[in-house]
Amino acid sequence: MTFESDLLTWVSQAKSAISAAVNLEQLKLARLAHAGDKSPIALASRSLGSMDPQDRATFGKIIGDARAQVAAIVSERTSVLEEERDARVLLDEIVDITLPASRSQRGALHPITILKNEISDFFIAQGYGVAEGPELEAEWLNFDALNIPADHPARTMQDTFFVEPLDARLVLRTHTSPVQIRTMLENEPPIYVICPGRTFRADELDATHTPVFHQVEGLVVDKGITMAHLKGTLDLFARKMFGDEAITRLRPSFFPFTEPSAEVDVFFNGRWIEWGGCGMVNPKVLTACGVDTDIFSGFAFGMGLERTLMVRHGISDMHDIVEGDIRFSQAFGVGL
Ligand code: PHE
Repeated sequence: MTFESDLLTWVSQAKSAISAAVNLEQLKLARLAHAGDKSPIALASRSLGSMDPQDRATFGKIIGDARAQVAAIVSERTSVLEEERDARVLLDEIVDITLPASRSQRGALHPITILKNEISDFFIAQGYGVAEGPELEAEWLNFDALNIPADHPARTMQDTFFVEPLDARLVLRTHTSPVQIRTMLENEPPIYVICPGRTFRADELDATHTPVFHQVEGLVVDKGITMAHLKGTLDLFARKMFGDEAITRLRPSFFPFTEPSAEVDVFFNGRWIEWGGCGMVNPKVLTACGVDTDIFSGFAFGMGLERTLMVRHGISDMHDIVEGDIRFSQAFGVGL
């Protein structure tokens, strides 16, 4: 019967087209052509409607078998091609997890910054404020207001960086004491401040000197302030810096802005070490800043941060502190 032989041909055409599909795209086209709505088999199936019931039953079964055969080949081929595709995608999209990740260098606060923060936290906890001022400072605030006479050797160009034009009378501050003057000019006592910051002196960089360094100074102006308050404050500060065993010693000295004045030594690791300067604020300085010396008195102290760090950590060469090698900073931890 020609209908049956047609059907066999269509089925075998469908089989070879579907088997020949090498990817899912081709398979889809083959399926549409040989099993889709417009395929010969589908059209034959539609013609069942116009047959008489007996033929419809006979041919319906034959066509149903043919469609089932084609559907089976399609699904078999689909799973083969899908498996191939999945394997290829795994290869194409492979991620080499053994490649080293690109590493960004982790930064670290400079140990001087960490120390400055540590000192600030310590004094803030005792009710002090932290005052800052400009690094380029009026000569008058850096020297004259501090009772440093015009002919004082510190004021020569060998010691101080004067900044052009010279008649502007500006210097790179040689200490943070001008911040104390600024604080007293701007605030009424009681005053409790520390002044940490960068300072400058015309020194060559060597193992123990650097032209750019850091100081922290403290200033207290209140009623009834005595040297006992100064000594107690320095003892606490020394213990914070060098451990609970640290003790301080005051040696008579001279600074134009304090009277009396003293050098502060600290006993650390079995020996006395010069740590900084201190004294009772010279009444001349208080008066110049508008403080009534009948009511108020004050003390001041000043230390170098580089020196404090070198003593505390046994750093023997200033170059390590100023050269900015990240490995030096990392040895102190990342810092807060
Ligand atoms: N300003 C002084 C210096 O730089 C240190 C100091 C501060 C001394 C306060 C006494 C009181 O050397």
